[in-house]
Amino acid sequence: MNKKTPESLRSARWFAPDDVRSFGHRSRAMQLGYGPEDWVGKPVVAIINTWSDIGTCHGHFKQRVEDVKRGVLQAGGFPLELPALSLSESLVKPTTMLYRNMLAMETEELLRSHPIDGAVLMGGCDKTTPGLILGALSAGLPFIYMPAGPMLSGNWKGQVLGSGSDTWKYWDDRRAGKITTQQWIEVEGSIARSHGHCMTMGTASTMTGIAEACGFTLPGASSIPAVDSNHIRMAAECGRRVVGMVWEDLTPASMLSRASFENAITVAMAMGCSTNAIIHLVAMSRRAGAHCAIGLEDFDKASRKVPVIANIRPSGSTYLMEDFYYAGGMRAMMGVLKDHLQLDALTVSGKTLGDNLQGAEVYNHDVIRPLDNPIYAEGALAVLRGNLAPDGCVIKPSACAPRYLQHTGPALVFDDYPSMKAATDDENLDVTADHILVLRNCGPQGGPGMPEWGMLPIPLKLVKQGVKDMLRISDARMSGTSYGACILHVAPEAYIGGNLALVKTGDMITVDVPMRRIHLEVSDEVLAERRAGWSPLPKRFERGYGWMFSRHIMQADQGCDFDFLETSFGAPVGEPDI
Ligand code: FES
Ligand code: MG
Repeated sequence: MNKKTPESLRSARWFAPDDVRSFGHRSRAMQLGYGPEDWVGKPVVAIINTWSDIGTCHGHFKQRVEDVKRGVLQAGGFPLELPALSLSESLVKPTTMLYRNMLAMETEELLRSHPIDGAVLMGGCDKTTPGLILGALSAGLPFIYMPAGPMLSGNWKGQVLGSGSDTWKYWDDRRAGKITTQQWIEVEGSIARSHGHCMTMGTASTMTGIAEACGFTLPGASSIPAVDSNHIRMAAECGRRVVGMVWEDLTPASMLSRASFENAITVAMAMGCSTNAIIHLVAMSRRAGAHCAIGLEDFDKASRKVPVIANIRPSGSTYLMEDFYYAGGMRAMMGVLKDHLQLDALTVSGKTLGDNLQGAEVYNHDVIRPLDNPIYAEGALAVLRGNLAPDGCVIKPSACAPRYLQHTGPALVFDDYPSMKAATDDENLDVTADHILVLRNCGPQGGPGMPEWGMLPIPLKLVKQGVKDMLRISDARMSGTSYGACILHVAPEAYIGGNLALVKTGDMITVDVPMRRIHLEVSDEVLAERRAGWSPLPKRFERGYGWMFSRHIMQADQGCDFDFLETSFGAPVGEPDI
């Protein structure tokens, strides 16, 4: 049902009035070759495109944006491409997480400051999904998320290669002398074979799946491989549909409820999601407003009920996203999860999640498992608390060796990445598989930007003994394609004086995942003494974006948003006046 009229379109404020400002808007649109037939009475659709020459996962967006435009035109809209930060996970240093909020701010202000009625967001590489969605949520206009789609499975001499996961595997093999330098170089050229984002269940696949579960994508969109012609047609359909959303005034505020985000948690658990999902989803829900806000406990609760049913690496053993698509994809998986989902949640299709799942079928029950034959009976993530992490930390039990789920061992502590790297490469390091490696000062402020250093390398000495896993604790994140007994996101982080800053090598640490506990076996008195002698590290930034980042970034358990971007911060931002 249409709620908007041509006169009430937001863009009409720019283009319709008979005044000198609008003369400027119209004459300059005409400078671009457009005319009244392009804009009068037509929804103006921003296509926010994260393509660039360095956006490795979005190489097809240069073409795909034309497909979205085609859809917008078919439906009677006026498409305008607005480029935004690419945020290539594999090339941005020190970490894209430093810039997620920058993309969010860019997206929000692009939409607010221009004559835009609705938006298609083109992203897919890890932080682009949350970055774009965070900004669009705050801008409040109707939007559709168009996921880049996973790349095809890697292949090296007939062996399937998975993004990230096989990088770590073959790197360990090379360090252990099991493959040659030549073979390593061949793997390098075989692991990323097509356009699209990482095709393991890393952060990219996790976040696009979450976007679909929240209702931000067209049904089934997140699983379509980037180079499949279905992806082209999906892009055009995004363009057509967003025009309808504008007329229907289907804004995020009218679409979203807490159920949307609870559904996303459920789906994340069933996917065997990246640990990064927690940070991004918490931030997204808080942007949607206090009534939608979720926290760490919601993940932990869901993880106790929802089994991992997507048999995709790294939680699964064999399959990749291409297989997931052929098995029926996200619609099929959500169909299996029906009883765990709130099916009345609204989506960008204008229909409920339940409507979107009608007729969904699983075509391969080994890839998308039934609930009674999961790959892991409990969910993907567990939230631990204790004196080492009063505000929580997370572990992915589905990706770690069972013996470490309950373990007490001596800490081996590193204050920074280079010293950890040098030590773990030293074959004479005094370490056993019972040790717990601790890396600190790599949280949101300390990293800076919370780099993906949480999968600390197994010390070379142990690799050569055949050790494949050990407990590791940090205030960093880890790549969604990583695996192992890695405890991450310790909050508060060491850099701001969390108890992690007070651990000494040799201290005993107890980890008990079934009890959701992490405990530093040092008395409160001794910790207080150590705190009295603790002094903060020098500031990471004295100017620029990093300076602003350091002042406003929140801790991992709160989603690492900037405090001033949260919905509850200050009065709402209105429309631009003139
Ligand atoms: Fe872009 Fe992995 S590098 S999704
Ligand atoms: Mg990643």
